[in-house]
Amino acid sequence: MLTINQSCSMIIFGGTGDLTHRKLIPALYHLMYQGMLPEGFTVISVGRQQKSNTDYREELYQSVLKYSRFQVQKVLWDRLSERIYYRAFSFDEEDGYEKLKADLLQIDQMYNTAGNRLYYLAVSPENFAPIVEKIKEHNLIPENEGWQRVVIEKPFGQDLPSAQRLNKRIGKVFSEKDTYRIDHYLGKEMIQNIMVIRFANTIFEPLWNYQYIDHIQITAAETEGVGSRGGYYEKAGALRDMVQNHLLQLLAIAAMEPPEKNDAESIRDEKVRILRAIHFPKASAIGRHVALGQYSGYRQEEKVSPQSTTETYVALKLFLDCDRWRGVPFYIRTGKKLEQKTSQIVVQFKQPPKPFYKECEEGCNPNLLVIKIQPEEGTVLQFNAKKPGNLQQILPVGMNFCQNCNLENNSPEAYEKLLLDVMSGDASRFTRWDEVEYSWRFIDEISNCCSNKAELIENYSAGSWGPQQGQQLIERSGRKWWNL
Ligand SMILES: NC(=O)c1ccc[n+]([C@@H]2O[C@H](COP(=O)([O-])OP(=O)(O)OC[C@H]3O[C@@H](n4cnc5c(N)ncnc54)[C@H](OP(=O)(O)O)[C@@H]3O)[C@@H](O)[C@H]2O)c1
Repeated sequence: MLTINQSCSMIIFGGTGDLTHRKLIPALYHLMYQGMLPEGFTVISVGRQQKSNTDYREELYQSVLKYSRFQVQKVLWDRLSERIYYRAFSFDEEDGYEKLKADLLQIDQMYNTAGNRLYYLAVSPENFAPIVEKIKEHNLIPENEGWQRVVIEKPFGQDLPSAQRLNKRIGKVFSEKDTYRIDHYLGKEMIQNIMVIRFANTIFEPLWNYQYIDHIQITAAETEGVGSRGGYYEKAGALRDMVQNHLLQLLAIAAMEPPEKNDAESIRDEKVRILRAIHFPKASAIGRHVALGQYSGYRQEEKVSPQSTTETYVALKLFLDCDRWRGVPFYIRTGKKLEQKTSQIVVQFKQPPKPFYKECEEGCNPNLLVIKIQPEEGTVLQFNAKKPGNLQQILPVGMNFCQNCNLENNSPEAYEKLLLDVMSGDASRFTRWDEVEYSWRFIDEISNCCSNKAELIENYSAGSWGPQQGQQLIERSGRKWWNL
């Protein structure tokens, strides 16, 4: 069993928020359950609401009961919760930081945390930089003692200039190596598995290029609408909310060259090369590369403008300027209120060079490698086989590895892995500044080209697979979206 050897205190700004209740504290309980938390691990949560440690711990307990993937053992929970403290102060309250400093020094002594601090910003983005600056002003980073790392939730900026400004302010306090920009997709089991599938087998990698792959499609579809997040979503839209981070990260991992080493810098170097290689379509061709949609009823959602031109669906056709992927299209789509909740990558291989069977004269069923990310986790390899019987018939069959079908509780939540990574100083699954920079550069270019959104955006019915133009984007070249 892996146990991180370093005690530390985790300071959660936003300790009363949704993320802390639904993800962070349950993830810590799961790590405790698996014996993976460091010996002296301690949490100090900060929020504005006034409450005692006892009341705060009780509220967290209710959340763990609700969201834990393991049965909750009260004895274990008590062992964790007695190390969780709550402090009420507003982020702009100087005195609050002074008290926090005193708490942390005391914790260092009580639990041997040796100045090791994990600052987790589970707060809205406008608070990221001010909190980090207060951390410095109040000397909450002990000099020459232990390690101090900051975890920053998404979104990191709303466009390239705002991301650059934020990065500059964070960079004055934490070095790049101590800045962990979280994209929880990167902690998901099947995302980690993409690299294993590619680089721990010999059967896929030799085919992983323009000679054998017809195209790659990446889908992140949701059945839900914006719900209560209309205020945030109005400013973001599908392009900024999903493509800039999760989907471009998937593209980078699926397309990158094998990294020189299995370490954070080598992996991120290769991802950046892909993000830099995304070929931006000419403005005159934008209609053939970008499809935007909005679900019917979006304008009636809470905190959404009745004239909103925010896209709740986007599909892109991209090419990469690199030898491996010369001429291979990458199709990306994401949307809300679609027919099915699914995140997956489909790799469609080329047809055999010459049809051998009459049945394949019009084209055989293509070989597909499907990497299912959520809700089902697994891999399906589709190939052709003979249908049993005296007639010559060819059938597509699938070899199916379903990771979360049979084994109970086998898939850890992304936040478990990511929190362990921060404690052990492994940034492989966090986005480096240049990844963020190149992603925003691309998204900003697309946004600028689509500034006449009101004309481009097409309505689609809730529960469908999105607007017509999203279908046409891929069907124009004789391909189709696989809704598997
Ligand atoms: N929720 C998710 O599933 C999720 C998923 C991915 C990313 N994120 C990101 O995670 C961050 C947090 O999201 P959330 O959903 O947890 O937000 P939330 O539920 O609105 O929680 C915000 C937290 O910030 C605290 N807060 C706000 N202003 C404060 C101030 N001036 N002083 C002290 N505390 C203050 C609130 O404390 P009080 O309640 O005491 O006021 C609360 O604890 C956001 O950046 C979001 O984009 C969230």
